[in-house]
Amino acid sequence: MNEIREKILNELKEKVNEVKNIQEFQVLKSKFLGKKGEISNLMKQISKVEKEKRKEFGAFVNNIKKEAEELLNEAFENLKSKIKEEEEKKNWVDITLPGARRKIGYEHILKQTIREVYEIFSNIGYKIVEGPEIETTWHNFDALNTPEWHPARDMQDTFYIKDNIILRTHTSPVQVRTMLTHEPPLAIISPGRVYRKDEPDATHSPAFNQIEGLYIDKNVTVGHLKATLEKFLTMYFGGSRKVLLRPSYFPFVEPGYEVDVDCMFCGGKGCNVCKGTGWIEILGAGLVHPNVLKNVGYDPEIWQGFAFGTGVERIAMLKHGIADMREFYRNDMRFLGL
Ligand code: PHE
Repeated sequence: MNEIREKILNELKEKVNEVKNIQEFQVLKSKFLGKKGEISNLMKQISKVEKEKRKEFGAFVNNIKKEAEELLNEAFENLKSKIKEEEEKKNWVDITLPGARRKIGYEHILKQTIREVYEIFSNIGYKIVEGPEIETTWHNFDALNTPEWHPARDMQDTFYIKDNIILRTHTSPVQVRTMLTHEPPLAIISPGRVYRKDEPDATHSPAFNQIEGLYIDKNVTVGHLKATLEKFLTMYFGGSRKVLLRPSYFPFVEPGYEVDVDCMFCGGKGCNVCKGTGWIEILGAGLVHPNVLKNVGYDPEIWQGFAFGTGVERIAMLKHGIADMREFYRNDMRFLGL
């Protein structure tokens, strides 16, 4: 009898170790404990055994069944934890690995340039203001001492939206808007986009950016203008910059100047960037014309001021060695640091 028991249980022990998944386990279980399983077959024989030995045989079979059940239960628990372990191994994440970094890049060079200029001027008390890109001809021209018949209007031909509504040709109308809404003294810079009917080439674009500056106070002279521009250009380009004021004409300033800075590439000796002159033209500037002050309701006998305007692309090209203005608008990812 013991042989039977050994045979069944040994076979079960052996097979139970080979089980790899739940399905295999179920097959094995029913092979031993199922209705047609080996142990059930033994059970069926109980009734055939002689009466005296029947009880003993019954207990014998029941023990085998119990042992088989225990073996199978234990195997089932092992199998479950093995499966769980494998699952965990498969889903294991190394939390010490550095994450996949997203490229963040930096501000477009034009934005950076505007910010650098603003930082320089905010250190000496200037506030930043903005004006609309769609402007009235009055703010853009008339109030700036440029009446309809004035030839300077043709020099800044632009895009008309209506008879007296245009895309602004410069940031100077922000001077007018600021003075109309604020009492003097004041010190502002105003960056923004401007429009001209220009063919795009290496140094022209129908839309580009300017930064306007306006300072209004009592007893303002060209000396203040020159010192301010020298400080600005030195801080923006580095080194120690010299400024040259060349008399020029803008209807809204008197006197008016085109402002050159000594060439930062050759230090003023003359090179191909400054075309051998040692100077680079960089700004328009001057003292605010008395007519402009009158147009905004300021008394020119009490208040004076200076104004200047520069091209953002122009100063960014010089600082970063960009030869063609169109590069700024071509979506070259390098401009975003990507
Ligand atoms: N608005 C002038 C231009 O666009 C520049 C300028 C600004 C000149 C302020 C003088 C004073 O060319």
